[in-house]
Amino acid sequence: MRIILASSEVVPYSKTGGLADVAGALPKALSRIGCDAAVITPKYTGMGKRHGDVVSHETGELLFSDLRVPFADGVRYAAVWRDYLDGVPVYFIDNAEYFGHGYIYGSGNFDVERFAFFSRAVLELCKRIGGPPDILHCNDWQTGLIPAYLASAYAGDPFYWRTATFFTIHNLAYQGHFDPNLLPKFGFGWDSYQYGMEFHGSASAMKAGLYFSTAISTVSPKYAEEIQTPEFGNNLDGLLRWRRGDLIGILNGVDYHEWNPETDKYLAANYSINDFSGKYFCKKALLENYHLPVDLDKPVVAIVSRLTVQKGIELIAQAIWKILDTGAYFVILGSGGESYENFFQHVRDTRPQQVGVYFGYNNALAHQVEAGADMFLMPSAYEPCGLNQMYSLKYGTIPIVRGVGGLDDSIQGFERTTEQGNGFKFYEYSSDRLAEKYYESLLTYYDRALLNRIRRNGMSTDYSWDRAAHNYLDAYRRVLAAKL
Ligand code: ADP
Ligand code: GLC
Repeated sequence: MRIILASSEVVPYSKTGGLADVAGALPKALSRIGCDAAVITPKYTGMGKRHGDVVSHETGELLFSDLRVPFADGVRYAAVWRDYLDGVPVYFIDNAEYFGHGYIYGSGNFDVERFAFFSRAVLELCKRIGGPPDILHCNDWQTGLIPAYLASAYAGDPFYWRTATFFTIHNLAYQGHFDPNLLPKFGFGWDSYQYGMEFHGSASAMKAGLYFSTAISTVSPKYAEEIQTPEFGNNLDGLLRWRRGDLIGILNGVDYHEWNPETDKYLAANYSINDFSGKYFCKKALLENYHLPVDLDKPVVAIVSRLTVQKGIELIAQAIWKILDTGAYFVILGSGGESYENFFQHVRDTRPQQVGVYFGYNNALAHQVEAGADMFLMPSAYEPCGLNQMYSLKYGTIPIVRGVGGLDDSIQGFERTTEQGNGFKFYEYSSDRLAEKYYESLLTYYDRALLNRIRRNGMSTDYSWDRAAHNYLDAYRRVLAAKL
Protein backbone atom coordinates (compact mmCIF):
# COMPACT_ATOMS: atom_id res chain seq x y z
CA MET A 1 0.00 0.00 0.00
CA ARG A 2 1.38 3.41 -0.94
CA ILE A 3 0.91 6.01 1.79
CA ILE A 4 1.99 9.62 1.57
CA LEU A 5 1.87 11.56 4.81
CA ALA A 6 1.77 15.35 4.68
CA SER A 7 2.69 17.26 7.81
CA SER A 8 3.78 20.79 8.70
CA GLU A 9 6.40 19.45 11.13
CA VAL A 10 8.45 16.24 11.19
CA VAL A 11 11.09 15.07 13.69
CA PRO A 12 14.09 15.38 13.29
CA TYR A 13 13.69 18.24 10.80
CA SER A 14 11.21 20.57 12.48
CA LYS A 15 9.19 20.55 15.67
CA THR A 16 6.94 22.65 17.84
CA GLY A 17 5.08 19.75 19.50
CA GLY A 18 3.90 16.15 19.39
CA LEU A 19 2.67 16.31 15.78
CA ALA A 20 6.32 16.31 14.73
CA ASP A 21 7.04 13.21 16.81
CA VAL A 22 4.11 11.41 15.18
CA ALA A 23 4.97 12.48 11.63
CA GLY A 24 8.54 11.28 12.14
CA ALA A 25 7.71 7.95 13.73
CA LEU A 26 4.54 6.66 12.06
CA PRO A 27 5.91 6.46 8.48
CA LYS A 28 8.94 4.51 9.72
CA ALA A 29 6.66 2.10 11.58
CA LEU A 30 4.42 1.72 8.51
CA SER A 31 7.45 0.97 6.40
CA ARG A 32 8.58 -1.70 8.88
CA ILE A 33 5.29 -3.53 8.39
CA GLY A 34 5.60 -3.52 4.63
CA CYS A 35 3.95 -0.27 3.48
CA ASP A 36 5.45 1.96 0.82
CA ALA A 37 5.48 5.15 2.91
CA ALA A 38 6.75 8.66 2.15
CA VAL A 39 6.50 12.04 3.88
CA ILE A 40 6.07 15.56 2.49
CA THR A 41 6.78 18.65 4.60
CA PRO A 42 7.89 22.26 4.10
CA LYS A 43 11.53 23.24 4.17
CA TYR A 44 11.76 26.11 6.66
CA THR A 45 14.61 28.53 6.20
CA GLY A 46 15.82 31.84 7.62
CA MET A 47 15.43 30.51 11.15
CA GLY A 48 16.44 32.74 14.00
CA LYS A 49 15.95 31.77 17.61
CA ARG A 50 12.29 31.59 18.45
CA HIS A 51 10.48 29.87 21.31
CA GLY A 52 9.43 26.33 20.56
CA ASP A 53 10.63 26.16 16.96
CA VAL A 54 13.30 23.62 16.17
CA VAL A 55 14.55 23.30 12.64
CA SER A 56 17.39 21.32 11.13
CA HIS A 57 18.95 22.41 7.87
CA GLU A 58 19.92 18.83 6.99
CA THR A 59 17.31 18.15 4.34
CA GLY A 60 19.22 15.89 1.97
CA GLU A 61 19.74 16.34 -1.74
CA LEU A 62 18.12 18.80 -4.10
CA LEU A 63 15.85 16.70 -6.33
CA PHE A 64 14.54 19.36 -8.69
CA SER A 65 13.85 23.06 -8.57
CA ASP A 66 10.93 23.37 -10.95
CA LEU A 67 7.85 22.00 -9.17
CA ARG A 68 5.00 23.87 -10.82
CA VAL A 69 2.26 24.81 -8.37
CA PRO A 70 -0.85 26.43 -9.84
CA PHE A 71 -1.63 28.99 -7.17
CA ALA A 72 -2.66 32.58 -6.68
CA ASP A 73 -3.81 33.30 -10.24
CA GLY A 74 -0.72 31.91 -11.85
CA VAL A 75 2.00 29.34 -11.45
CA ARG A 76 4.46 29.42 -8.58
CA TYR A 77 7.53 27.25 -8.31
CA ALA A 78 9.10 25.28 -5.52
CA ALA A 79 12.33 23.39 -5.21
CA VAL A 80 12.12 19.88 -3.81
CA TRP A 81 14.65 18.24 -1.51
CA ARG A 82 14.79 14.62 -0.43
CA ASP A 83 16.23 12.94 2.62
CA TYR A 84 15.67 9.46 4.07
CA LEU A 85 14.48 8.47 7.54
CA ASP A 86 15.35 4.79 8.05
CA GLY A 87 14.77 4.26 4.34
CA VAL A 88 11.53 6.31 4.20
CA PRO A 89 11.82 9.19 1.72
CA VAL A 90 11.05 12.62 3.16
CA TYR A 91 10.39 15.34 0.57
CA PHE A 92 10.74 19.03 1.38
CA ILE A 93 8.84 21.78 -0.41
CA ASP A 94 11.17 24.76 -0.63
CA ASN A 95 9.69 28.15 -1.42
CA ALA A 96 11.26 31.14 0.29
CA GLU A 97 8.23 33.39 -0.19
CA TYR A 98 6.20 31.11 2.06
CA PHE A 99 8.68 29.18 4.19
CA GLY A 100 11.73 31.43 4.36
CA HIS A 101 10.60 33.72 7.18
CA GLY A 102 12.38 32.11 10.10
CA TYR A 103 9.38 30.47 11.74
CA ILE A 104 7.25 27.36 11.42
CA TYR A 105 3.93 29.01 12.24
CA GLY A 106 2.96 32.65 11.93
CA SER A 107 -0.61 33.84 12.17
CA GLY A 108 -3.62 35.15 10.29
CA ASN A 109 -4.50 34.92 6.62
CA PHE A 110 -0.91 34.73 5.45
CA ASP A 111 -0.34 31.60 7.52
CA VAL A 112 -3.26 29.88 5.85
CA GLU A 113 -1.99 31.05 2.46
CA ARG A 114 1.40 29.45 3.21
CA PHE A 115 -0.21 26.11 3.94
CA ALA A 116 -2.71 26.38 1.09
CA PHE A 117 0.34 26.66 -1.16
CA PHE A 118 1.90 23.70 0.62
CA SER A 119 -1.28 21.64 0.18
CA ARG A 120 -1.39 22.33 -3.52
CA ALA A 121 2.33 21.60 -3.82
CA VAL A 122 1.81 18.22 -2.13
CA LEU A 123 -0.73 17.25 -4.80
CA GLU A 124 1.59 18.34 -7.60
CA LEU A 125 4.60 16.63 -6.06
CA CYS A 126 2.82 13.26 -5.69
CA LYS A 127 2.61 13.15 -9.47
CA ARG A 128 6.37 13.43 -9.83
CA ILE A 129 7.58 10.93 -7.27
CA GLY A 130 5.97 7.65 -8.30
CA GLY A 131 2.55 6.09 -8.70
CA PRO A 132 -0.63 7.47 -7.11
CA PRO A 133 -0.87 7.09 -3.37
CA ASP A 134 -3.59 4.80 -2.04
CA ILE A 135 -3.77 6.97 1.05
CA LEU A 136 -2.93 10.64 1.38
CA HIS A 137 -2.60 11.03 5.12
CA CYS A 138 -3.20 14.65 6.17
CA ASN A 139 -2.58 16.10 9.62
CA ASP A 140 -4.28 19.09 11.26
CA TRP A 141 -5.50 22.28 9.63
CA GLN A 142 -2.23 22.94 7.79
CA THR A 143 -3.10 20.08 5.45
CA GLY A 144 -6.90 20.39 5.67
CA LEU A 145 -7.13 21.97 2.23
CA ILE A 146 -5.65 18.88 0.54
CA PRO A 147 -8.95 16.93 0.66
CA ALA A 148 -10.74 20.10 -0.47
CA TYR A 149 -8.47 20.47 -3.52
CA LEU A 150 -8.97 16.80 -4.36
CA ALA A 151 -12.72 17.31 -4.24
CA SER A 152 -12.60 20.39 -6.49
CA ALA A 153 -9.58 21.32 -8.68
CA TYR A 154 -8.48 17.66 -8.94
CA ALA A 155 -11.95 16.08 -9.01
CA GLY A 156 -11.62 14.67 -12.53
CA ASP A 157 -7.90 13.95 -12.35
CA PRO A 158 -7.30 10.29 -13.32
CA PHE A 159 -4.06 10.21 -11.30
CA TYR A 160 -6.09 10.51 -8.10
CA TRP A 161 -9.17 8.47 -8.90
CA ARG A 162 -8.40 5.75 -6.36
CA THR A 163 -6.65 7.89 -3.72
CA ALA A 164 -8.40 8.17 -0.37
CA THR A 165 -7.68 10.99 2.07
CA PHE A 166 -7.20 10.19 5.73
CA PHE A 167 -7.33 13.27 7.95
CA THR A 168 -5.89 13.10 11.47
CA ILE A 169 -6.84 15.64 14.13
CA HIS A 170 -3.98 16.28 16.53
CA ASN A 171 -5.53 19.35 18.05
CA LEU A 172 -9.02 20.56 17.19
CA ALA A 173 -8.50 23.93 18.85
CA TYR A 174 -6.26 25.24 16.07
CA GLN A 175 -8.43 25.62 12.99
CA GLY A 176 -6.75 27.79 10.37
CA HIS A 177 -9.49 30.38 9.91
CA PHE A 178 -9.16 32.76 6.97
CA ASP A 179 -10.94 35.43 5.01
CA PRO A 180 -13.26 33.78 2.45
CA ASN A 181 -12.29 36.47 -0.06
CA LEU A 182 -9.00 34.62 -0.40
CA LEU A 183 -10.70 31.50 -1.79
CA PRO A 184 -10.28 32.47 -5.47
CA LYS A 185 -6.60 33.22 -4.80
CA PHE A 186 -6.19 29.74 -3.34
CA GLY A 187 -8.02 28.25 -6.33
CA PHE A 188 -11.37 27.40 -4.74
CA GLY A 189 -14.85 28.20 -5.99
CA TRP A 190 -17.65 29.43 -3.74
CA ASP A 191 -19.23 25.99 -3.68
CA SER A 192 -16.24 24.60 -1.73
CA TYR A 193 -16.88 27.35 0.78
CA GLN A 194 -20.64 26.99 1.00
CA TYR A 195 -20.55 23.22 1.26
CA GLY A 196 -17.62 22.52 3.50
CA MET A 197 -15.38 25.35 4.62
CA GLU A 198 -17.74 27.98 5.91
CA PHE A 199 -17.44 28.54 9.64
CA HIS A 200 -19.49 31.36 11.15
CA GLY A 201 -18.76 33.71 8.25
CA SER A 202 -15.10 32.78 8.10
CA ALA A 203 -13.42 29.97 6.17
CA SER A 204 -11.77 27.14 8.08
CA ALA A 205 -9.00 24.85 6.87
CA MET A 206 -9.69 22.43 9.74
CA LYS A 207 -13.34 22.20 8.76
CA ALA A 208 -12.33 21.62 5.14
CA GLY A 209 -10.28 18.62 6.25
CA LEU A 210 -13.10 17.23 8.35
CA TYR A 211 -15.68 17.76 5.65
CA PHE A 212 -13.90 16.67 2.48
CA SER A 213 -11.66 13.82 3.68
CA THR A 214 -12.60 10.21 3.01
CA ALA A 215 -12.05 9.31 6.66
CA ILE A 216 -11.07 11.06 9.88
CA SER A 217 -8.98 9.91 12.78
CA THR A 218 -7.72 11.40 15.96
CA VAL A 219 -4.91 10.44 18.28
CA SER A 220 -6.78 8.61 21.05
CA PRO A 221 -10.11 6.74 21.33
CA LYS A 222 -11.22 8.96 24.23
CA TYR A 223 -10.57 12.22 22.32
CA ALA A 224 -12.52 10.75 19.38
CA GLU A 225 -15.52 10.55 21.74
CA GLU A 226 -14.90 13.89 23.46
CA ILE A 227 -14.73 15.96 20.29
CA GLN A 228 -18.28 14.92 19.48
CA THR A 229 -19.47 16.90 22.52
CA PRO A 230 -19.88 20.68 22.85
CA GLU A 231 -17.36 20.74 25.74
CA PHE A 232 -14.45 19.54 23.60
CA GLY A 233 -15.80 20.01 20.07
CA ASN A 234 -14.62 23.60 19.45
CA ASN A 235 -17.89 24.25 17.59
CA LEU A 236 -17.19 21.40 15.20
CA ASP A 237 -18.88 18.72 17.31
CA GLY A 238 -21.98 18.77 15.13
CA LEU A 239 -19.97 18.02 12.01
CA LEU A 240 -18.05 15.33 13.87
CA ARG A 241 -21.24 13.69 15.11
CA TRP A 242 -22.50 13.73 11.54
CA ARG A 243 -19.28 12.01 10.40
CA ARG A 244 -18.97 9.69 13.40
CA GLY A 245 -19.17 6.59 11.16
CA ASP A 246 -15.94 7.70 9.45
CA LEU A 247 -14.15 8.75 12.65
CA ILE A 248 -11.72 6.55 14.55
CA GLY A 249 -9.35 7.12 17.50
CA ILE A 250 -5.90 5.54 17.38
CA LEU A 251 -3.57 6.10 20.33
CA ASN A 252 -0.16 7.49 19.36
CA GLY A 253 2.93 5.43 19.98
CA VAL A 254 6.30 6.16 21.47
CA ASP A 255 9.48 6.00 19.47
CA TYR A 256 11.40 3.67 21.79
CA HIS A 257 14.57 4.16 19.76
CA GLU A 258 14.51 7.76 20.97
CA TRP A 259 12.87 7.30 24.36
CA ASN A 260 14.38 4.34 26.17
CA PRO A 261 16.32 4.62 29.47
CA GLU A 262 18.38 1.55 28.54
CA THR A 263 19.97 3.29 25.55
CA ASP A 264 19.22 7.02 25.96
CA LYS A 265 22.41 8.90 25.11
CA TYR A 266 21.38 12.05 26.98
CA LEU A 267 21.36 10.42 30.43
CA ALA A 268 24.01 10.44 33.16
CA ALA A 269 23.43 6.68 33.46
CA ASN A 270 21.26 4.12 31.72
CA TYR A 271 18.87 1.81 33.55
CA SER A 272 16.21 -0.81 32.93
CA ILE A 273 13.18 -2.45 34.48
CA ASN A 274 15.52 -5.02 36.10
CA ASP A 275 17.89 -2.50 37.62
CA PHE A 276 16.75 1.03 38.53
CA SER A 277 20.05 2.08 40.08
CA GLY A 278 20.99 4.31 37.12
CA LYS A 279 17.82 6.34 37.77
CA TYR A 280 19.34 7.69 40.99
CA PHE A 281 22.37 8.97 39.08
CA CYS A 282 19.97 10.65 36.67
CA LYS A 283 18.11 12.22 39.60
CA LYS A 284 21.35 13.50 41.12
CA ALA A 285 22.50 14.90 37.75
CA LEU A 286 19.13 16.57 37.23
CA LEU A 287 19.21 18.31 40.61
CA GLU A 288 22.74 19.50 39.95
CA ASN A 289 21.75 20.67 36.51
CA TYR A 290 18.98 22.78 38.05
CA HIS A 291 21.39 24.06 40.74
CA LEU A 292 19.46 22.43 43.55
CA PRO A 293 20.86 20.77 46.69
CA VAL A 294 21.04 17.01 46.27
CA ASP A 295 18.84 15.04 48.67
CA LEU A 296 17.92 11.82 46.91
CA ASP A 297 15.24 10.87 49.46
CA LYS A 298 12.99 13.75 48.51
CA PRO A 299 10.78 13.28 45.46
CA VAL A 300 11.33 15.31 42.31
CA VAL A 301 8.06 16.48 40.76
CA ALA A 302 8.40 17.64 37.14
CA ILE A 303 6.73 19.03 34.07
CA VAL A 304 7.93 19.28 30.47
CA SER A 305 5.42 21.21 28.45
CA ARG A 306 4.35 23.98 26.19
CA LEU A 307 3.06 26.51 28.72
CA THR A 308 -0.49 26.91 27.46
CA VAL A 309 -4.01 26.75 28.84
CA GLN A 310 -4.41 23.32 27.20
CA LYS A 311 -1.82 21.81 29.53
CA GLY A 312 -3.62 22.77 32.76
CA ILE A 313 -0.69 24.89 33.94
CA GLU A 314 -3.28 26.86 35.92
CA LEU A 315 -3.92 23.87 38.18
CA ILE A 316 -0.21 23.38 38.80
CA ALA A 317 0.14 27.07 39.62
CA GLN A 318 -2.66 26.72 42.21
CA ALA A 319 -1.35 23.46 43.72
CA ILE A 320 2.34 24.31 43.69
CA TRP A 321 2.61 25.60 47.29
CA LYS A 322 0.91 22.48 48.65
CA ILE A 323 3.31 20.32 46.68
CA LEU A 324 6.32 22.29 47.91
CA ASP A 325 5.08 22.15 51.51
CA THR A 326 5.57 18.37 51.43
CA GLY A 327 9.31 19.01 50.96
CA ALA A 328 9.42 17.88 47.33
CA TYR A 329 11.56 19.38 44.60
CA PHE A 330 9.79 20.86 41.60
CA VAL A 331 11.48 21.25 38.21
CA ILE A 332 9.97 22.74 35.11
CA LEU A 333 11.03 22.70 31.47
CA GLY A 334 8.54 24.91 29.69
CA SER A 335 8.29 26.79 26.44
CA GLY A 336 6.10 29.77 25.52
CA GLY A 337 3.60 31.49 27.81
CA GLU A 338 5.28 34.53 29.31
CA SER A 339 2.87 35.04 32.21
CA TYR A 340 3.36 31.44 33.31
CA GLU A 341 7.11 31.90 33.06
CA ASN A 342 6.90 34.93 35.33
CA PHE A 343 4.83 33.00 37.83
CA PHE A 344 7.19 30.03 38.01
CA GLN A 345 10.18 32.34 38.19
CA HIS A 346 8.51 33.90 41.24
CA VAL A 347 8.04 30.42 42.74
CA ARG A 348 11.69 29.68 42.10
CA ASP A 349 12.77 32.96 43.70
CA THR A 350 10.62 32.20 46.75
CA ARG A 351 11.85 28.61 47.21
CA PRO A 352 15.29 28.50 45.57
CA GLN A 353 16.28 25.34 47.48
CA GLN A 354 13.34 23.39 46.08
CA VAL A 355 12.49 24.75 42.64
CA GLY A 356 14.37 24.66 39.34
CA VAL A 357 13.20 26.40 36.17
CA TYR A 358 14.28 26.27 32.53
CA PHE A 359 12.28 28.26 30.01
CA GLY A 360 12.70 27.40 26.36
CA TYR A 361 12.99 24.29 24.29
CA ASN A 362 15.65 21.72 25.10
CA ASN A 363 15.33 18.15 23.86
CA ALA A 364 18.27 16.71 25.82
CA LEU A 365 16.90 18.24 29.01
CA ALA A 366 13.44 16.81 28.26
CA HIS A 367 15.04 13.33 28.34
CA GLN A 368 16.98 14.13 31.52
CA VAL A 369 13.86 15.38 33.29
CA GLU A 370 11.90 12.25 32.36
CA ALA A 371 14.71 10.10 33.75
CA GLY A 372 15.56 12.11 36.85
CA ALA A 373 12.03 12.87 38.07
CA ASP A 374 9.90 10.75 40.39
CA MET A 375 6.49 12.20 39.51
CA PHE A 376 5.40 13.88 36.28
CA LEU A 377 2.39 16.22 36.21
CA MET A 378 -0.02 16.45 33.26
CA PRO A 379 -3.30 17.92 34.51
CA SER A 380 -4.41 18.97 31.00
CA ALA A 381 -7.63 20.85 30.32
CA TYR A 382 -7.83 18.68 27.20
CA GLU A 383 -5.28 16.36 25.65
CA PRO A 384 -5.77 14.73 22.25
CA CYS A 385 -3.12 12.16 23.12
CA GLY A 386 -0.08 13.47 24.98
CA LEU A 387 3.30 11.84 24.67
CA ASN A 388 5.11 12.85 27.84
CA GLN A 389 2.99 10.65 30.11
CA MET A 390 3.98 7.67 27.95
CA TYR A 391 7.63 8.69 28.08
CA SER A 392 7.28 8.92 31.88
CA LEU A 393 6.00 5.35 32.06
CA LYS A 394 8.99 4.08 30.14
CA TYR A 395 11.39 6.00 32.41
CA GLY A 396 9.87 4.67 35.64
CA THR A 397 8.49 8.12 36.51
CA ILE A 398 4.99 8.21 37.96
CA PRO A 399 2.53 10.20 35.82
CA ILE A 400 -0.17 12.19 37.64
CA VAL A 401 -2.74 13.12 35.02
CA ARG A 402 -6.21 14.43 34.45
CA GLY A 403 -8.33 11.72 32.78
CA VAL A 404 -8.99 13.47 29.49
CA GLY A 405 -8.24 12.28 25.95
CA GLY A 406 -5.15 10.15 25.54
CA LEU A 407 -4.23 10.64 29.20
CA ASP A 408 -7.31 8.64 30.18
CA ASP A 409 -6.54 5.95 27.61
CA SER A 410 -2.87 5.53 28.51
CA ILE A 411 -2.85 5.88 32.32
CA GLN A 412 -4.59 3.43 34.65
CA GLY A 413 -5.01 4.56 38.27
CA PHE A 414 -2.76 2.68 40.70
CA GLU A 415 -4.55 0.68 43.40
CA ARG A 416 -2.49 0.00 46.49
CA THR A 417 -4.51 -3.12 47.34
CA THR A 418 -4.23 -4.86 43.98
CA GLU A 419 -0.98 -3.15 42.94
CA GLN A 420 -2.44 -2.73 39.48
CA GLY A 421 -2.16 0.50 37.49
CA ASN A 422 0.66 2.69 36.22
CA GLY A 423 -0.07 6.21 37.49
CA PHE A 424 -2.54 8.50 39.26
CA LYS A 425 -5.56 10.03 37.62
CA PHE A 426 -8.29 12.50 38.53
CA TYR A 427 -11.17 13.85 36.48
CA GLU A 428 -12.56 17.14 37.82
CA TYR A 429 -10.64 20.20 36.55
CA SER A 430 -9.56 21.25 40.03
CA SER A 431 -6.27 21.91 41.77
CA ASP A 432 -7.61 20.23 44.93
CA ARG A 433 -8.08 16.98 43.01
CA LEU A 434 -4.57 17.34 41.59
CA ALA A 435 -3.16 17.87 45.09
CA GLU A 436 -5.07 14.83 46.40
CA LYS A 437 -3.59 12.61 43.72
CA TYR A 438 -0.17 14.05 44.42
CA TYR A 439 -0.56 13.15 48.14
CA GLU A 440 -1.61 9.65 47.13
CA SER A 441 1.44 9.30 44.90
CA LEU A 442 3.59 10.42 47.81
CA LEU A 443 2.38 7.50 49.95
CA THR A 444 3.44 5.19 47.15
CA TYR A 445 6.76 6.99 46.74
CA TYR A 446 7.70 6.52 50.39
CA ASP A 447 6.83 2.78 50.34
CA ARG A 448 9.78 1.21 48.51
CA ALA A 449 7.92 -1.99 47.54
CA LEU A 450 4.95 -0.09 46.13
CA LEU A 451 7.24 2.36 44.35
CA ASN A 452 9.06 -0.49 42.63
CA ARG A 453 5.71 -2.06 41.73
CA ILE A 454 4.25 1.04 40.08
CA ARG A 455 7.53 1.70 38.28
CA ARG A 456 7.58 -1.81 36.90
CA ASN A 457 3.94 -1.55 35.86
CA GLY A 458 4.77 1.63 33.94
CA MET A 459 7.98 0.42 32.39
CA SER A 460 6.34 -2.75 31.13
CA THR A 461 3.42 -0.90 29.48
CA ASP A 462 3.98 -1.13 25.73
CA TYR A 463 2.97 1.86 23.64
CA SER A 464 5.23 1.13 20.69
CA TRP A 465 4.54 2.56 17.27
CA ASP A 466 4.37 -0.96 15.83
CA ARG A 467 1.03 -1.50 17.58
CA ALA A 468 -0.27 1.90 16.40
CA ALA A 469 0.98 1.33 12.84
CA HIS A 470 -1.02 -1.91 12.61
CA ASN A 471 -4.11 0.00 13.73
CA TYR A 472 -3.51 2.64 11.04
CA LEU A 473 -3.00 -0.01 8.40
CA ASP A 474 -6.28 -1.72 9.35
CA ALA A 475 -8.03 1.65 9.18
CA TYR A 476 -6.49 2.49 5.77
CA ARG A 477 -7.64 -0.90 4.45
CA ARG A 478 -11.19 -0.34 5.64
CA VAL A 479 -11.23 3.14 4.08
CA LEU A 480 -9.99 1.83 0.74
CA ALA A 481 -12.44 -1.07 0.75
CA ALA A 482 -15.32 1.31 1.42
CA LYS A 483 -14.16 3.74 -1.29
CA LEU A 484 -13.76 1.23 -4.13
P1 ADP B 1 1.83 18.83 22.51
O1 ADP B 1 2.11 18.35 21.13
O2 ADP B 1 0.41 19.19 22.74
O3 ADP B 1 2.76 19.90 22.95
P2 ADP B 1 2.70 16.16 23.36
O4 ADP B 1 2.79 15.59 24.73
O5 ADP B 1 2.00 15.37 22.33
O6 ADP B 1 2.07 17.61 23.52
O7 ADP B 1 4.14 16.37 22.77
C1 ADP B 1 5.04 17.30 23.26
C2 ADP B 1 6.41 16.97 22.72
O8 ADP B 1 7.23 18.12 22.81
C3 ADP B 1 7.12 15.89 23.50
O9 ADP B 1 8.02 15.20 22.65
C4 ADP B 1 7.88 16.71 24.56
O10 ADP B 1 9.00 16.04 25.07
C5 ADP B 1 8.26 17.91 23.77
N1 ADP B 1 8.40 19.14 24.54
C6 ADP B 1 7.42 19.94 25.03
N2 ADP B 1 7.94 21.03 25.62
C7 ADP B 1 9.28 20.93 25.50
C8 ADP B 1 10.39 21.74 25.90
N3 ADP B 1 10.20 22.88 26.55
N4 ADP B 1 11.62 21.31 25.58
C9 ADP B 1 11.81 20.15 24.95
N5 ADP B 1 10.82 19.33 24.54
C10 ADP B 1 9.57 19.73 24.81
C1 GLC C 1 -1.13 17.62 19.58
C2 GLC C 1 -1.81 17.33 20.90
C3 GLC C 1 -1.14 16.23 21.70
C4 GLC C 1 -0.78 15.06 20.80
C5 GLC C 1 0.05 15.55 19.63
C6 GLC C 1 0.45 14.43 18.68
O1 GLC C 1 -0.07 18.51 19.72
O2 GLC C 1 -1.91 18.49 21.70
O3 GLC C 1 -2.01 15.78 22.72
O4 GLC C 1 -0.05 14.08 21.53
O5 GLC C 1 -0.70 16.47 18.89
O6 GLC C 1 -0.65 13.73 18.15
